[in-house]
Amino acid sequence: MATQASPARKIAFSAAQPTGQLTIGNLFGAIQNWVPLQEHYDTLFCVVDLHALTVRQDPQQLRRHILELAAIYMASGVDPRQSEVFIQSQVPQHAELAWILSTFAQLGELERMTQFKDKAQRHRHNVNAGLFTYPVLMAADILLYGAHVVPVGEDQKQHLELTRDIAIRFNNLFGPVLQIPEPLIPTQGAARVRDLQYPEKKMSKSAEAELSRVMILDDDATVLKKFKKAVTDSLGEIRFNEDAQAGVTNLLTIWCAATGRRQEEALDHFSHNMYGKLKVETAEAVNAVLGPIRENYRQLMADPGELERILNQGAERAAHRAEKTMVQVMDVLGLPVAGRRMRAGV
Ligand code: TRP
Repeated sequence: MATQASPARKIAFSAAQPTGQLTIGNLFGAIQNWVPLQEHYDTLFCVVDLHALTVRQDPQQLRRHILELAAIYMASGVDPRQSEVFIQSQVPQHAELAWILSTFAQLGELERMTQFKDKAQRHRHNVNAGLFTYPVLMAADILLYGAHVVPVGEDQKQHLELTRDIAIRFNNLFGPVLQIPEPLIPTQGAARVRDLQYPEKKMSKSAEAELSRVMILDDDATVLKKFKKAVTDSLGEIRFNEDAQAGVTNLLTIWCAATGRRQEEALDHFSHNMYGKLKVETAEAVNAVLGPIRENYRQLMADPGELERILNQGAERAAHRAEKTMVQVMDVLGLPVAGRRMRAGV
């Protein structure tokens, strides 16, 4: 029961795509930072499966990944009694509002999105229109719920800017209907976790080498093995130095994220140590965080009926909220809303 829908609370919305198993990068960089927001915000956390369709997916796998991602949210501390946890495709207003907003987004703006340019490069055989309008669907996700803040990583900042531009443009033409959202970009608190083998790159769930990434569901031994094989350097000094010692810096960053300690504390803790100790202790710290998450996850996945019940309830409540925005948006545009008002009781 999300009881916090009191108007005094600001609204926070975030989401992730169900495109595979999540890494500790997703955990420390995103999901872990959602959890404390539940205290002070009216929070919604969405599994954006429609976004995932912009890259070809295997239906069986997609079905599984959607539930797994929702379970990971909850196993990591997103509490469905405090937050709406739901699947994007179960709330049809996302696609509806996306269509309307697409008429407020300029081709030139969408062409400038670096993620589009990247993905168009990587999926050259399938540069579909959805890949291009992806940020418009994201704008719809956010604007449907009147989100004040959107916790996202640095890489989504440009999409957030576009969301704001679309909302401002809409409001300028039709009145103050849409809430203008602010990005909540983690500074030090959230770690930007790098690839363990190529620390100049961000850790990615689609990295080719297994040793590059630590998955949330990896077992203790696998986590230890991956950290032991992490790339470092031959300088033999433990310090934060992103340019010359990206690997060591990454291990320190991960240790901080897993223990909740500050950079200075990490330096204190590891001063005069060898890389071997840094690797093993980082693995242990990560396992200490992952252990309970894996256990919660197992319990959630053992009862898919209950998981689906929670998600259906989340979708129902989300749809009710989304419908209020839809009716307002449609009304100011001159689209008929009387029938919708009656059906939804809004
Ligand atoms: N584009 C985001 C990502 O790849 C996922 C996303 C979709 C999202 N809709 C959103 C994030 C709305 C925040 C808010 O990470």
